[in-house]
Formats: sequence, structure tokens, C-alpha cells
Amino acid sequence: MCGIVGYVGTDAAKPFLIEGLKRLEYRGYDSAGFALYDPKSKDFIIRRSVGHVEALVEATHGMGDHERLGIAHTRWATHGVPSEVNAHPHRAGGLVLVHNGIIENHAQIKNQLIAEGVSFSSQTDTEVFVRLIEKHCLRLALAQKLVFLEATPLQKRDIALHALQRAASEVEGHYAVIFLIQGIEDCIFGLQAGAPLVLGQCKSGGLVASDLQAMLSHTSEVSFVPVSTIFEVSKGLSHFYDVKTLEEKTVKLEKIEWSSEKVAKDGFDHFMLKEIFQQPSVIADTLSGRMPLSELGSFVWDNPVAHEALWKNVKKVYLIACGTAYHSAMVAKYYFEKWAKLSVEVDIASEFRYRNPVFEVGTIVGVISQSGETADTLAALRLANEKGLTTFSVCNVPGSTIMRESNFQYSTKAGPEIGVASTKAFTAQLTVLTALAYDVAHLRGLSPNSKDSDEGFRSLARLPQDIESVLAHADEFQAVGASLENKKTILFIGRGTMYPIALEGALKLKEITYRHAEGYAAGELKHGPIALVDKDLAAVVMAPPDELHAKTLSNLEEIRSRGAFIVGIGEDKDTEFRKLCNSYIALPKTTWTTAPVLYVIPTQLISYGLARKLGCSIDKPRNLAKSVTVE
Ligand code: G6P
Repeated sequence: MCGIVGYVGTDAAKPFLIEGLKRLEYRGYDSAGFALYDPKSKDFIIRRSVGHVEALVEATHGMGDHERLGIAHTRWATHGVPSEVNAHPHRAGGLVLVHNGIIENHAQIKNQLIAEGVSFSSQTDTEVFVRLIEKHCLRLALAQKLVFLEATPLQKRDIALHALQRAASEVEGHYAVIFLIQGIEDCIFGLQAGAPLVLGQCKSGGLVASDLQAMLSHTSEVSFVPVSTIFEVSKGLSHFYDVKTLEEKTVKLEKIEWSSEKVAKDGFDHFMLKEIFQQPSVIADTLSGRMPLSELGSFVWDNPVAHEALWKNVKKVYLIACGTAYHSAMVAKYYFEKWAKLSVEVDIASEFRYRNPVFEVGTIVGVISQSGETADTLAALRLANEKGLTTFSVCNVPGSTIMRESNFQYSTKAGPEIGVASTKAFTAQLTVLTALAYDVAHLRGLSPNSKDSDEGFRSLARLPQDIESVLAHADEFQAVGASLENKKTILFIGRGTMYPIALEGALKLKEITYRHAEGYAAGELKHGPIALVDKDLAAVVMAPPDELHAKTLSNLEEIRSRGAFIVGIGEDKDTEFRKLCNSYIALPKTTWTTAPVLYVIPTQLISYGLARKLGCSIDKPRNLAKSVTVE
């Protein structure tokens, strides 16, 4: 959470900072700010404002257009309410700093600093950290009989790097900071202590940001700053040092094959809608070059030999994720169990990391994440790595920490996802996991039941076209969503793979409409939620014609008879189901293999249609951030 960006070079810094902030806004958008270094006054120009980056742009129109060094930040509040005073950057004497992550022992350090006479202007843990660095700068300077602000740039740099090292040894938490030093006109300093930072060089200067998206329009060669690394970046040069020893280390430059997508809605009213409509091409890209020619062949993964070795002696699979990605893991469990006959445990990362899971020999751990930076998912991956287990990731962002730290990577090819509520990344995760389960079954000498296998395989191959035909009715699905305007609760129900899809449908609705929604296994309704049912409740019932169809319809009858408004999602020809519904979303014929992808799409559009009707902030829902880098 929170986005960091910095520029140092020969061009004006502000346009780089603002463009970077806009691209990073998905990480938080309750306030934003920047600090530029003005070489004339030899001081910082600091501007901060509450709200989206656009508010900062408006508030600073016509100013700060010439300075060539700057850092900026977009915030998702953790410590202290969203306000101008709590917005970053934070200043302490000759230092100005922006921060992402959490300083866990901030209260204790703050009390200590207050006792030493330091005063604070904000409630943030960030200010604690910058004041702690400043304290060490002043002390180290004094020990050398210097006044920090009057020292030469070289002396200041040396003192500040040692001060940063000392401060880092006193704080606990996972975080990243970048900062400027008054009097140093050509350098940005920083520390990666568990939250991601990427460095790059463009023609006119050096860039640093929380993630790739902020710099891809300027360079495709980047260095991912390793954890526990102090760095300095200037035009044409980056240096990295171990935080414990300050010894210089080498960090390789990586070429990123991810084109920078315009931060533009391309004629759509919202990024979310654009991303929903990108799903046919995203799924085609995700399958491209991987699908075998027939159901008897093997899928082609990046490193086939390592892939085969990875799955050879597996006895148990853990799939771990957060949010929407967790729902894709839940769906995958059904496929791995049925086709590959593998025992699968699915876990929420924030629970897994604090339990004491028992790992048998032959356990493999897979983590699923769009961003590849989610703090809990990353911690779960690290835990599995520490236990010596083989790990793999299903991830969308190339070069992300989760991708780099897992033993094997199965990438989704959804491209940058800007809307906070995940859509195309989810269906890409489902597609990769389905193909993977299918392939693992083959590797284990198990051919999924032959009729299912043939049909499932063919339906996977034609998934992009099938999604197109579902999207042809997007307006109708949105209208169904809008028609739920007066319902107090919206229940999503399904059985089998439709259960996680029901959970995902409810999550999407909550995220962007702020309406109360619940996802439930249809068979569980009688154990509690049926008490909610009255005429103010709508139920979205998902029932493809699979072996659980009749049971789901029985559950539907139970809530229909108690006054619920029923929205059905089923096959076009399913007249039995259709006649039980107040509103019916008719989908083309699907298979068990592809139903989750095709059935989730109408739920995305129902939520979108209702959010539009209610006038909600669809791409940036209140209180949410897309990349959750704090636990
Ligand atoms: C946040 C996002 C969700 C996402 C979840 C996990 O809550 O708003 O859309 O599913 O994080 O993120 P990840 O990047 O790990 O998939």
C-alpha cells in the first residue's frame, strides 16, 4: 500500500512524479504529495493534499515546473487519518522522506524521541522514522565535529547512509523509504526493508518507484532492489549497499517484457469495464503457446523440465492467497482433486502464516497473487521456503517479489490491471490453474474421465470466443445489477465450483457498491443465512447444468418461497431453472472446466451496473487499495 516515486535528472521532475503517482494510485488514494529540491533556495518545495492525485495536480498547477530532483507519494492511511498533515513527504531538518509499509515499534521510538526533546507534527509512523534518521545524522555529524547542514555534500551523504543504517537497526517492520538530503542536488537515497522498490534509468535521469508500472513508459530495463538494501540513485548511476555492513552489492538489470499500457480508459467509462472487456484477449494471451494440440498432449510451460520435476512426487498441495486470488485457489482445489487425484488444502495467507501447518513429505506450496506483492501472501511464501518446501507462484506482475522468491512461476498474462476490483486477473488465474490441474493429471498418468476430458479441453481452447459471446450481453447484465438498487442484501449462492464463484460475486459487489452481500454454499443456506431472507433480499443463484444442478434448484425454491427476489445465472436452454427466477441471465453451453470463468463474468457486470446506478467510485472504491503491502 502507498505508492512511492522519485526522479533525478536533467528534465523537470514534476511531470515524472505526477505520471508515476497516477500509475501508482491503485496502491492508495486518500492523499498525495511531493517534495522537489530547489537549487536556488537550496531548500525543498513540499506540497501535500488530501484526496486523489488529481487534487494535488490542481493544487500545484503552475508551480514546481523547473526543479530536477523530487520524490512523491500516494497514501493509503495506516497511522493517522487521511489529512494534509499526515500526507507524505515528511520532513525532519535537512531530510525529506516518503514511506511505504509499517514501522511496527513506532510508538516506542516516538516516546523515546519525545523524551529526548523531539517534537512531532503528524500521527504517522513515517515521521517517526525520518526524525530517527535525523537524530542519528545530527549525532554522527557532532561526533565528527561537524554541523550536519553545514557539511559538504560528500560528508552529508556519508553521514546520512550511516544514520539510515542505525535507524534501520532500531526499527521493526516491513517497509521501504526514499529520501532527499538538503544540499545534495543530484541524488535520491533509499532503503528496501521488505516493501518493493524498483530502480530504472531513462535518457534524462534515474527513476525509483514502488513498482514497474510507474516507469515502464520511460524504460524497460530495471533493477528490483533486494530486501535489506540501501541504495542511491542519480542520473546514469545506481549503487546498492547491504544494510548491515554498508558493503556495496551488485544488483542485476532486468529486461521487462511488459509493455506500458496507457493509463487511459480507451473509450470505456471505467478501467473496470475496460478490463472486463479485455478478458477474451487476456485469456487468449494466457493460453497462447501453452495449449497442446490435442487433449493427449502436455501444456507448455516456461521451463518444461523443471515443471515436470516439480510435480513428479507431489503428494499434497497447499494453495495460498488473499482476496479474489483466494477464490481462484478454491476453484482449483476442485480440479486438482478430481483430475489429478491430489489432496489440496486452500488457505487464506493471513491465517496460514500464523498457524502451525503440518507438512508431510511431498508437500508443494503454491501462492496466487495478481500483484505479486501482497504482504500476507509473500509472508506465507517465505514461510514455505524457510521450511524447505518446493514453492510455485501464479502471478501477474513480472519481476514481482512473489515471482522472484518462488521456485517456479506460472504467469498470468492479464497485463496491468488498474481497477482496484480484480476482474481480468481473476479469470486469468482461473485459466492458468485449470490448465495446470489438467496437465498435472496427465503427468501423473491420470487422464481425466475421457468424455469430460475431451469436452473440457475443447472448451478451454474456445474460452476466448465463449467469453466474447457472454460479453455481447453486457448491457443486460448491468441492467440486472441496476434493478437491485432497492435490495438491502444480495446473496450469491452456488454449489461445487460455483461456491467460490458465489464468494467472488459477493466480494465484487461489496467492493464497488458498498452493499451488504454474502457468498454462500447453497447447501449451507439452511444453517443460518436463510433467516435473512425476506422481500428485501435478492439472491443470485448460479446453477450450470452439472451434477449438482437439481440440488441447487431445491435450495433456490426454499428461498424463493420465503420472498427472495431471484436472479438466475444458467444455460440458455435451461427452462426449468429459468421459470423459477424473477430475472434470468442466459449463458451459452459450458463445461465443468470453463463454467467458473464464464459464470463469474455476469457477476462482475451485475456489480458494475449496480455501482453505476448508485454513483459509487468504481475504479477506486473507498478504503481499498489494490496492492496490499501491509498485513
Ligand atoms: C486486494 C485487492 C484484491 C486482491 C487482493 C489480493 O484486496 O483489492 O483485488 O484480490 O488484494 O491481491 P493479490 O495482488 O495478491 O492478488
